[in-house]
Amino acid sequence: MPTDRADLPRVDPLQQALHELHRTQALLAQTEQALRASQELLRQGEHFNNTGSMRYLLQQDLMVCSEELCRIYGLAPGNNLIRHEDFAALMHPDDRQAVLDTVAAAIAIGGTIRVEHRICRRDDGEVRYISGIGKPVWVDGAFTEYVGTATDITSQRRTEYAVRAAEADLARVSRATTVGQLTASIAHEINQPLMSIIANAGASLRWLDRDPPQLAQARAGLEDIVAEGTRAGNMISGLQDLTRNTEPVLQRLNLDGIIGHILSISRSEIERREVALQLSLGGPAAWVSGDPVQLQQVLLNLVVNAIDAMSAGTTRPRVLSIRTVVDAGVRVTVQDSGMGIAPEAMDRVFDAFYTTKEGGMGMGLAICRSIIAAHGGQLTVAHAPDGGAVFGFSLPLVP
Ligand SMILES: Nc1ncnc2c1ncn2[C@@H]1O[C@H](COP(=O)(O)OP(=O)(O)OP(=O)(O)O)[C@@H](O)[C@H]1O
Ligand SMILES: [Mg+2]
Repeated sequence: MPTDRADLPRVDPLQQALHELHRTQALLAQTEQALRASQELLRQGEHFNNTGSMRYLLQQDLMVCSEELCRIYGLAPGNNLIRHEDFAALMHPDDRQAVLDTVAAAIAIGGTIRVEHRICRRDDGEVRYISGIGKPVWVDGAFTEYVGTATDITSQRRTEYAVRAAEADLARVSRATTVGQLTASIAHEINQPLMSIIANAGASLRWLDRDPPQLAQARAGLEDIVAEGTRAGNMISGLQDLTRNTEPVLQRLNLDGIIGHILSISRSEIERREVALQLSLGGPAAWVSGDPVQLQQVLLNLVVNAIDAMSAGTTRPRVLSIRTVVDAGVRVTVQDSGMGIAPEAMDRVFDAFYTTKEGGMGMGLAICRSIIAAHGGQLTVAHAPDGGAVFGFSLPLVP
């Protein structure tokens, strides 16, 4: 039905503009509120995650830091604009150059920055560990800034260090306990050079008492004393290394030498338990890279376990066979003719605290396995062909 325009209510343009203005104001207030809520959410999220965010304006060489980033770095809360140079000054002096090099290399190609380093907080100087990541913001094929985050990972790092220190303590206790099982054998081994020293000293005195004194024989006796004294001294310092709390040091070493040292402290225990020792060594070529104390610990535990397994009521001849074979790597096997391992226990022998021995800690093989893994190998077990067990591992050969 046609309408007459005169029938329509008159719209006052001023009223309409005012109405629009109110509507826009309400919208603006709503948007502001939503923005504030989202900023607050971001602030809280950053705080919960110990993660601060930042923009790095390349041309101005300025960092714009979030409130949480200021808190992590110990900057005054309002101080959120900081020159890159001043920001770099907060990095730990030992880490700074490496971080700056990584950042420069990433910026040169517009790549992602990933760094992990320590900082010294500006307010209290406390050292904290930071994991940082930054990405370039590309606009029209160019970038003028990076946006990134810095996460305070201090508590994770400290926990990791504490776990590592506890593992090292446990390994040392386990080593000392195993060495403790060989006390009688060790005492015997050290006693031998001492007895020889006493005998040589007596003989040398008698050569000197002759008329005329027999100097050449006395000298030969004294030279023997020096050699035997050195043997006992080396044995004792080797034992000190095994029981001392030292940081692992990687070095080039001959695995046969490691086996030789372990046999020198367990030899009389092997004899006392009437075990026949079969040695087949790889010789001068058996060079690997490793920590001597840790590798001695592995061999020591394998040998003591083998001796234990053969003492427990088997009637078969007791044979301990240690072999090193050099091919692509150096393969070491320690085989015994003991009671063997039940099929269902094969997977469990490497578990921490798994033991079938009275007074055993059950940590020996768990520690050995992680030592060998840290050296780039794998410790495995199999049934020996004529009963007993055979433990083996291979390590990469070093020239
Ligand atoms: N050569 C072996 N023959 C048979 N069983 C073995 C042999 N070696 C280890 N086992 C079994 O694996 C278990 C775990 O060995 P592991 O060396 O880890 O601990 P443990 O010798 O019992 O105690 P410790 O912590 O003092 O070394 C042993 O208790 C034993 O049951
Ligand atoms: Mg053991």
